[in-house]
Amino acid sequence: MSLANHFELLGRDGEARTGLLTTPHGAVRTPAFMPVGTQGAMKGLHWREMRDAGTDIVLGNTYHLMLRPGAERIAELGGLQKFTTWDGPMLTDSGGFQVMSLAQLRKVKEQGVTFRSHIDGTAIELTPERAVEVQRLLGSDIAMQLDECVRLPAERSDIERAVQLSLRWAERSKRAFEGAPAANMLFGIVQGGDSPELRRTSARGLTEIGFHGYAIGGLAVGEPQAVMLAMIEETIPSMPADRPRYLMGVGTPDDLLEAVARGIDMFDCVMPTRNGRHGMAFTRFGQINLRNARHANDPRPLDEESSWPASRNYSRAYLHHLVRSGETLGAMLLSGINVAYYQNLMQAMRTAITERNFQLFRERTRGDWARGDI
Ligand code: GUN
Repeated sequence: MSLANHFELLGRDGEARTGLLTTPHGAVRTPAFMPVGTQGAMKGLHWREMRDAGTDIVLGNTYHLMLRPGAERIAELGGLQKFTTWDGPMLTDSGGFQVMSLAQLRKVKEQGVTFRSHIDGTAIELTPERAVEVQRLLGSDIAMQLDECVRLPAERSDIERAVQLSLRWAERSKRAFEGAPAANMLFGIVQGGDSPELRRTSARGLTEIGFHGYAIGGLAVGEPQAVMLAMIEETIPSMPADRPRYLMGVGTPDDLLEAVARGIDMFDCVMPTRNGRHGMAFTRFGQINLRNARHANDPRPLDEESSWPASRNYSRAYLHHLVRSGETLGAMLLSGINVAYYQNLMQAMRTAITERNFQLFRERTRGDWARGDI
């Protein structure tokens, strides 16, 4: 059964698209980048800074929040937005992927996945129905189906089994979502590893079930960028053109540029905040490692033309000092600088698509990255 469409396409340039996704907590301009606030907090940043940086929507995690502080508790406290004070749109991942990477003693069965909490060892079962229930308790605007993601390289038979299981879980997720407010959304997740055929099977199966939007999962899990981009190209023709397309867990600025060029509308990634905590800055001139001794005497800011004050106002020497001394402020400033860089890149892509000069923008941006930091 087809669901209401909350996505409006506003412009196109080649395969790249720009649009607007309307959620109960506001509109999301696409292509959109969602910074990751796994535990209901952005690491190193206030919500106000997230807004100022140009963030429309953030991602939270079912897995972490159901373990601590608990979905029922968050529901009693008024939902995630009230609990965290982030009053904008929120997408929650379903937990399957985090169970695979974080939980102990996990077992995947037809019914769902069982595992022990990485916090206190409690035995927990996460089924497609429970994943939807938790996300509804959290009050997220966009819920994700429970899926099984296989790390690459993998045997074809393992990938195929995960695709079929994820399709059955997709059907159960959709059924469990019946009765949710009409403005809330549920996205299906395409799996299929590095097999174009299995990607198409997965995308077609999900389209038949019918979702508000469609994610591509199971990428950026150890394969080269060329494989990831090839899988996007193979999958997109089997996804509905009028629905948002979300590439999960990606990526570097170059990954975003190349995926948008192929028709992706949404992304999430820990990279800007995680790399920021490790002394890395994303800039117009590529990535800069502020730990490096060559910055110790450098009075220049990271980018004097940036719209983000911290990129203009602090010297590289000071940022180097903060990083080397392990000061919290260093991690905070660099997380902000990186989220702002990502959001400025998304805005520049949206503008380039609207003005139909995306190809030129793509070449110039890659040229600046390649020229590097002078
Ligand atoms: N985040 C990054 N990749 C994935 C995926 O394949 N599935 C889910 N649920 N989340 C992800």
